[in-house]
Amino acid sequence: MGKIVIAIDGYSGCGKSSTAKIVAKELGYTYIDSGAMYRAATLHFLNHYLSPANPHDVEKGLKSLEITFQLNPDTHRQETYLNGLNVEDEIRSMRVSEKVSEIAAIPEIRKELVAQQQRLGKKKGVVMDGRDIGSVVFPDAELKIFMSADLETRAIRRQQELLEKGELVELQEISNNLAERDRIDSTRKESPLRKMPDAVEIDTSHLSFLEQVGQIVELARNTIKKEEEYASND
Ligand code: DC
Repeated sequence: MGKIVIAIDGYSGCGKSSTAKIVAKELGYTYIDSGAMYRAATLHFLNHYLSPANPHDVEKGLKSLEITFQLNPDTHRQETYLNGLNVEDEIRSMRVSEKVSEIAAIPEIRKELVAQQQRLGKKKGVVMDGRDIGSVVFPDAELKIFMSADLETRAIRRQQELLEKGELVELQEISNNLAERDRIDSTRKESPLRKMPDAVEIDTSHLSFLEQVGQIVELARNTIKKEEEYASND
């Protein structure tokens, strides 16, 4: 089967990561969570008291930052490592969520992480989710998805996720955080979140998880088939 790049962009908390993970599994592709990379960078800056507003700190932070992914053989989960330490759970905490949009708005940080993401997707056969995957990281992706869902649905889903990790957070606090991240992510100067004209929009507010996975897998299979037809006509 041919290999394509699948770019999934959309607002915070609309289920991009969990959907992308299963889509990748169904297709035998690699899943790359670009948001986890911005979160790991944020944790690094927080841990070392580095300010994203200070260019010297940004340079220092980027020099000492190594982000990798490793598959956990017990859970089959791809986990994020920061300078060799497993930070998969820590990067999902509210402490990181509150700061991540600020870090993700810094051009030097984006430049470095985008270059890493492009290297990871060079051989195709990847599903990557984020905010600028279809616009900046892989503008030539064969399939682009733009996921959305209403704010309340997203807040409830995120609260459940945090609860499963043992963090109890008020719905209003989560909702405020999501709305604020939407605002920063879509109005920032550097690679703002936007729906590309060639992206397929999927509103997941009233879709079950299996339905949203099913829709994307079907779109992917059709795209792969078309790509194979083009290749055989060449
Ligand atoms: O997908 P997520 O919520 O884990 O992403 C965390 C933050 O990282 C999000 O608020 C915006 C930023 N982000 C980004 O700017 N570009 C990406 N490609 C992925 C995430």
